[in-house]
Amino acid sequence: MEDKPKSDLIRGFLFACTEKSEAECLERSLFATEKIYGPVVIRIRKGDLLFLNNLDTNKLYGVFKAIGDGKPNIEQGAFGGRYPYQVKVEAIGEIVPLTDAKKILKGMKIGRNTPILKGKLVTLLKHFLSTQKQAELPIFTPRVTSNDLIQELIESILNDQQPMDIEEEIPIVESTTFWDFPRQSYGLTPKGNNKYAGVTPALIIYNMVWRYTEPGDFIVDPMCGSGTTLDVCKAEKRRAIGYDISSARPDIIQNDARHIPLEDSSVDMVFIDSPYGDNIKYNDHPDNIGRISSESEEFYDELEKSMKESHRILKEGKVIGWLIGDQWVRHKFTPVGFKIYDRLCKYFEPMEIICVARRGQSSNTDAWHNRARRFNFYLRGFKYLIIMRKASKVSRRDRPRKVEWAYYKRG
Ligand SMILES: C[S@@+](CC[C@H](N)C(=O)[O-])C[C@H]1O[C@@H](n2cnc3c(N)ncnc32)[C@H](O)[C@@H]1O
Repeated sequence: MEDKPKSDLIRGFLFACTEKSEAECLERSLFATEKIYGPVVIRIRKGDLLFLNNLDTNKLYGVFKAIGDGKPNIEQGAFGGRYPYQVKVEAIGEIVPLTDAKKILKGMKIGRNTPILKGKLVTLLKHFLSTQKQAELPIFTPRVTSNDLIQELIESILNDQQPMDIEEEIPIVESTTFWDFPRQSYGLTPKGNNKYAGVTPALIIYNMVWRYTEPGDFIVDPMCGSGTTLDVCKAEKRRAIGYDISSARPDIIQNDARHIPLEDSSVDMVFIDSPYGDNIKYNDHPDNIGRISSESEEFYDELEKSMKESHRILKEGKVIGWLIGDQWVRHKFTPVGFKIYDRLCKYFEPMEIICVARRGQSSNTDAWHNRARRFNFYLRGFKYLIIMRKASKVSRRDRPRKVEWAYYKRG
């Protein structure tokens, strides 16, 4: 499902610049930012309104209109390549600088990763109307006065009867190795099916997608379940294929993860949230690895076959994310995560292990918490997201190191 707004209502977006980059933004009519705000930029559509905040001078420039959709590398050479996520803009009339931008934006709770919607957008636009007369001289010679144009915009936004989207922050990638997502999904549309037993929190995949791929990249989930990976990829403008031994919806291809029908080195990222043992009944398919106990070596042997396949289809240097949790059943602890890590190490180079808080478990009830205390065991509180990469022929470790020799003068 695409993360399309419910309506095509005009939204506003905020960009930032500095003393150094302001002129380039205005001369090129190009607003740009780093990959951190990539998720915001790819959601900007032609016709959305844009504002430019100079962080050094504390000015807010407006009003601009996106004349195309936001995307990476519209002008590759711009800003010395530092700001690849870009949108082409056009000023609506003359450019008006508002002073005290920080106060205005803070007062209205406008941030760089929150689309500015209906009422708030109108209030912000009105700032540009009211100050226009006393504002400093416009930067460029006015073609038409912006007052009428802004007034027109305000009226069309107010008269638009379409249902308004909920104002929602566009998530920014996690900065630590501990991730805790209170909800299974994010954004305006569901991602996967939160009723599917063992559904993956969508923000895990979102973080993987934004950390390790670019828009247009090709992502594969060999055990796709209810399709969370497909939905996240669509919303984040990646191409994706999802397989599962038992297909839960038409866009998921029925396939065994131990034989993936794709060419060698053809994929930019693999994400797998595999069974953790036989704790969940996914389906009755005889080849469902979730029917094998994680207490037996067979479980790891079978999953290893899908690791080998994932390795084969991944391009060199590209990343796999494997989500896995430990097991404690009938007084027996099985370190499933460590065992999976060991097997993955046979094929991939380790990069990171993320600790993901487990929420929404069926055991997350008072009765189970009491039982855990009374009978002296623990409920599983986290899962591992194991992040590894397929080595490049010349991997970082093997690359010849540049040695800086110090020469001493003799005598
Ligand atoms: C934890 S669930 C995946 C959840 C999924 N990421 C989602 O968000 O809905 C594990 C999935 O592995 C699938 N599976 C088990 N054995 C498989 C196999 N041999 N090949 C492909 N998929 C398999 C199960 O059918 C199940 O849907």
